[in-house]
Amino acid sequence: MIVRFNCNGRSVQVDTPPMARLLDVLREDLRLVGSKEGCGEGECGACTVRVDGEPVMSCLVPVAQIEGCRVQTIEGLGNPIVHAVQTAMLATGGAQCGICTPGICMSAAALLDVDPHPTPDAVRVALAGNLCRCTGYQKVIDAVCGALAEREA
Ligand code: FES
Ligand code: FES
Repeated sequence: MIVRFNCNGRSVQVDTPPMARLLDVLREDLRLVGSKEGCGEGECGACTVRVDGEPVMSCLVPVAQIEGCRVQTIEGLGNPIVHAVQTAMLATGGAQCGICTPGICMSAAALLDVDPHPTPDAVRVALAGNLCRCTGYQKVIDAVCGALAEREA
């Protein structure tokens, strides 16, 4: 099946089984390996990308469902300008081993689009589906809360 969609601002088409996972199409067909596979069953958020602006777990999405959609991956979030949340994650130590970091940045960017100065509780809710084994979360929450404030200062 040919599936056409917009990926990081570029029109793409892939010839793929319709039930192929969006995560695999991104990583293997389009060579966008920034999205990570953790659990592979919708529990960890490492594979989070944005589809039409909404964060989704790409390991759960059959690629046929994204025909005509706008997909953004971590490669698109940081291009051409590194997103404020990426800079803030580095500054606070919110990124350590980095496996969860692309997914966290995608969920955080979606939150910051609608709530540029979120409270810690709002960040916790927005990132509830993104697990991290390294940071203890506080540094991640600090990064997201302060991401746009840093840039505006
Ligand atoms: S790999 Fe998709 S949620 Fe864990
Ligand atoms: S930085 Fe290692 S899992 Fe989050």
